[in-house]
Amino acid sequence: MNVYEAIRTRRSIRHYVPGVPMSREDLHKILEAAMMAPSARNGRPWEFVVVKDPAIKEQIRQAHPYCNHITDATLAIVICGFPSVESPYKEGFWPQDCAAACENLLLQAWELGWGTCWCGVHPDKERATALQQILQVQSVPLALITVGRPAETPDARGFYDAAKVKVLGE
Ligand SMILES: Cc1cc2nc3c(=O)[nH]c(=O)nc-3n(C[C@H](O)[C@H](O)[C@H](O)COP(=O)(O)O)c2cc1C
Repeated sequence: MNVYEAIRTRRSIRHYVPGVPMSREDLHKILEAAMMAPSARNGRPWEFVVVKDPAIKEQIRQAHPYCNHITDATLAIVICGFPSVESPYKEGFWPQDCAAACENLLLQAWELGWGTCWCGVHPDKERATALQQILQVQSVPLALITVGRPAETPDARGFYDAAKVKVLGE
């Protein structure tokens, strides 16, 4: 699968085959892809918490209103940002940096046959605070990504909209 195909066939997966383990190699490739993302001044203001423990998954499910699918997911990866790493020049860029990492993660996982669903955390303060406590991190949880073997096959779809494109010049 190349990038063209990965981007156009990826869908959010919210039904997973329970009990499927992930190899260390796949997990490494997925996290490495996330960390290859561009970031302002190459600050890489992130850390990644990999949650496999069923009890912690259940705590997260109760804290986040839209992630019931975490139960059957093989694991969840929480991308957390460090706003304090930034210089004044880069102020406020950390969510963009972390979001770029999220998208890389989604596409790499898909290429390896893993379905994902991006569940938003920051800037919802209630969710972010709850996840900080559950995961025992000081950083700011930006997104929770569930990862598992797909138990559904939603159709690929396209959203290209020429009305949303403005071209200046030739
Ligand atoms: C910032 C962000 C937050 C999201 N939060 C949730 C969420 O809490 N729960 C969920 O099931 N999906 C969530 N999604 C997934 C979107 O609903 C999904 O990407 C969108 O409907 C497009 O569908 P697709 O991913 O299949 O193309 C989120 C996506 C983004 C980018």
